[in-house]
Amino acid sequence: MFITLEGIDGSGKSTQAELLTENIRSARGEEGVIWTKEPGGWPGGDSLRKVLLEGSLHHPLTEVFLFLADRCEHVEQVILPALAAGKIVVCERYSDSTVAYQWGGRGIERGKIEGLLSWASFPSPDITFWIDLPAEKAYDRMVSRGSPRDRLESEGLSFLSRVRQGFCTLAEENPDRIVPVDGDGRADLIASEIYRKVEEYFFP
Ligand code: TMP
Repeated sequence: MFITLEGIDGSGKSTQAELLTENIRSARGEEGVIWTKEPGGWPGGDSLRKVLLEGSLHHPLTEVFLFLADRCEHVEQVILPALAAGKIVVCERYSDSTVAYQWGGRGIERGKIEGLLSWASFPSPDITFWIDLPAEKAYDRMVSRGSPRDRLESEGLSFLSRVRQGFCTLAEENPDRIVPVDGDGRADLIASEIYRKVEEYFFP
């Protein structure tokens, strides 16, 4: 069972990934679930994460190729083995982020990005929670926590708005997979809403 969480920076996605993992652990035991993230969620992946978030990258395609290279190792070393062992995988960010950020945010041709994603044959998530928050609110949250902290967060509000629009488009096009969740509320209530959907979906 492969669950992904998506959203713009500052949407509260990391908190929700952590709470969802805890909820699944409480219900199904410590060994039944793993929580992982992109970029960098594989052994040795920290160095690639550092280049992606802090490196001085000039060519727009470098970012696309590095996110995809990161995903190749993440899928091969972490996601597929965990799924094969029957675990639930909770993954923070995945291919929807590549479309929303590199197409929506950066303006790289969508067909090219999707061509690369389909060539890579990454496993598709069973369900994706898109934690949605207006870009202005997410941006204010980032600023109040002392950000921008990295290269992509430094892109500013209009970039974040375009990325959010990218996620909106993806959610509209994939209503069977992507569940939009209102991220503007108490974290524990949002977590309960997400966990209820997971239970309905996986343990009907
Ligand atoms: P985060 O770990 O704080 O979410 O930071 C990861 C950043 O990388 C975030 O700004 C989103 C960005 N990103 C992309 O632009 N494309 C991708 O494919 C992925 C996985 C992340």
